[in-house]
Amino acid sequence: MELSSIKILIVDDDEADRQDLANVLQRRIPGLIVEPAEGYEEAILKITASKYDCVLIDFRLQGKDGLELLREIRTHKGYEFCALIVITGQGSEEVAVEAMKGSAHDYLLKDQILEPRLIQSIETACTKAKLAEHQHLQLETRKNFAALAAHELNTPLTTLSGFLQMIELKLEGAPPDIQSYIELAIKNVNYMNTLVGSLLSYAQTGESNETIRLVALDHALGSALDLVRREILETQAQVSYSVLPMVYGRQNELIQLFRNLIGNAIRYRSAEPLKIEIHSVIERDVWHISVSDNGIGIPSKMRTQVFEPLQRAHTTGTSGHGLGLAISAKIVQSLGGRIWCEEAAEGHGCKFVFTLPVVEEKPVIKYNTPFSSIIR
Ligand SMILES: Nc1ncnc2c1ncn2[C@@H]1O[C@H](COP(=O)(O)OP(=O)(O)OP(=O)(O)O)[C@@H](O)[C@H]1O
Ligand SMILES: [Mg+2]
Repeated sequence: MELSSIKILIVDDDEADRQDLANVLQRRIPGLIVEPAEGYEEAILKITASKYDCVLIDFRLQGKDGLELLREIRTHKGYEFCALIVITGQGSEEVAVEAMKGSAHDYLLKDQILEPRLIQSIETACTKAKLAEHQHLQLETRKNFAALAAHELNTPLTTLSGFLQMIELKLEGAPPDIQSYIELAIKNVNYMNTLVGSLLSYAQTGESNETIRLVALDHALGSALDLVRREILETQAQVSYSVLPMVYGRQNELIQLFRNLIGNAIRYRSAEPLKIEIHSVIERDVWHISVSDNGIGIPSKMRTQVFEPLQRAHTTGTSGHGLGLAISAKIVQSLGGRIWCEEAAEGHGCKFVFTLPVVEEKPVIKYNTPFSSIIR
């Protein structure tokens, strides 16, 4: 990376040290802009007023801890990815760990700073900072693009749908084939509308602003069941579940995960009375949560593919975009888990299993306990 055009702030309450560093840097990198700050307050004033590419921070600032400054800088707009390097008089593992936890790119020992090591450290930190910022921008652009594309597509689709419905109203007495063409056109526009919504939801899954926190899977399941209650009643599905654990996740996404899996169990049911079972078991340090049904099942060769976007194993007789499982996989993966599909019983049904890390203490789960609830 070209260092001659960058701007560096050196925060050190020792004037001699500050000056030494500035001299070295200006000698080694002609054109480089170096500015000093003699303490916490001055550093904050300067980063608020100006944009620096790299900040070198003394670990021990008078009265304040350099790490506090490090963390404070990270919270300032424009400094989320800035190259930050901690310089310390006393090298210890503890200082290094603390510096890295505070998201410093590197830490250097004051009395052992060799010029090439210093330049290399600044160069590496600036390169990493630029890369992280670039990746963040790309992600934001992708998210914005998906939202923009969905919005841009939705507007004309809504207009189209409105005009088609007006035409339909005026078609009374028209030849039946004309009426059926319009009906087909309306059906397709409605399909596109829901497809755009699902694609947007797929693009945004795992990237929501909702923070990851402890979620009771029992509650997430309960909310998902509320959302599909009508379908459960219509199909007279029997849903049973055992105790579910607390896990780390985003509440809304975990509700959606259950909703997708239970919705599928209902949609891909067989002629038999539908039974859906939700269980959790602990295996080493992960929870295995399963949603099983006695439906039409998925042919073994399609059981991996169905987690890819727009992939469907059954296309006749059921509607769908082939995105529910892709969204579910993104949700589980964003929480450090895996998801897969097995046969529920010899020759029929599906058992979807997803894993999530165990949170601290393991609640006592009695296997084969009577189900805590039956919904009819
Ligand atoms: N419980 C199930 N039983 C049988 N087949 C299933 C089951 N769940 C999913 N599938 C198969 O996997 C495919 C992908 O499922 P997915 O939920 O991703 O999409 P979809 O249900 O077709 O549409 P949508 O995007 O509306 O959810 C389905 O089309 C279906 O063929
Ligand atoms: Mg589905």
